[in-house]
Amino acid sequence: MAAPPKKANSGPPLLDLTIDNITPNTNRINAQCGDPRLRYIMERLVTHLHDFARETRISTDEWMTALNFLVACGQISSEVRHEFILLSDILGLSLLVDSINHPKPAGSTEGSVLGPFHTHDAPTLAHGSSMSRDPAGEPLLCVCRVRDPRGNPVPGVKVDIWETDSSGHYDVQHEGREEPSERCVMLSGEDDGRFWFRGIRPVSYPIPHDGPVGKLLEKLGRHCWRPAHLHFMFEKEGWDRLITSLYMRGDPYETTDAVFGVKASLIVDLERVDAATAAEYGVAEGTWLLRHDFVLVSEAETAELRDRNAVEALQKLGLNMRLVDHLPVPELD
Ligand code: BEZ
Ligand code: FE
Repeated sequence: MAAPPKKANSGPPLLDLTIDNITPNTNRINAQCGDPRLRYIMERLVTHLHDFARETRISTDEWMTALNFLVACGQISSEVRHEFILLSDILGLSLLVDSINHPKPAGSTEGSVLGPFHTHDAPTLAHGSSMSRDPAGEPLLCVCRVRDPRGNPVPGVKVDIWETDSSGHYDVQHEGREEPSERCVMLSGEDDGRFWFRGIRPVSYPIPHDGPVGKLLEKLGRHCWRPAHLHFMFEKEGWDRLITSLYMRGDPYETTDAVFGVKASLIVDLERVDAATAAEYGVAEGTWLLRHDFVLVSEAETAELRDRNAVEALQKLGLNMRLVDHLPVPELD
């Protein structure tokens, strides 16, 4: 690798740094950054990290353990294994970031964690199709509608749906996966915003726990289970992308999800298909049935709410900020 060009820093002389002055000096040298948003993010990150070290009086051994943990997360990661996403999930950060970025007005469908198992190769299926290749799964009919907050149908929404098989594994977790299964894409109906499909009754399953994140959960005395759920992602131009899940009521892990994804409004009751519904949808009477309406919010309404929440939160923190491209930077810039 060629040496980078020699360049003088315009920051402070970095000499004789101490427990007390290392933080302002690190921030001063990073303040050369020309991008105000990156400058702000780094200033906050360094300040919090240094405070963390000072507050915990972290030992050299503990810090090496943390660094080795991050190395192990990198080493086990691959195209289909995302240990850092898992880490963000079990720390509650994924849910927090989603909640900040996709605030939901009352009455709209709340978001949940994306998780690492969404893929881009799911087949687009016609309404009523089965997305399951698992003969051991209990058949489930899902009949859904996409609406706006005023109750109007939203047609032509691309809906991604995915779930595990009856053994609690996503297709990508099976070695030698040749084609997608337990996942599909549907478009909400042109007249009524409806879509319906056949899957299997979801089961609870453990998140990947054979790596560093699994070991961390064990040390923390936490389990690695997620309650039974079906994933959904809704996308249409002009509408805020909704990533969510529906959780089956009564699951033993309903209130202790390893990745904090469950919200009361996303817990659903399964019914059994009656004779009329069986005839309408061409499934056997007694099949498990899930009916659900999803409520999407426009991009404009979401952006307005996000900005309002940001201003309020920053004022509460006593920070003098302004929003640039909807993201806070210090007012002085
Ligand atoms: C999932 O539901 O697919 C999932 C979410 C977070 C971490 C692991 C799995
Ligand atoms: Fe999942």
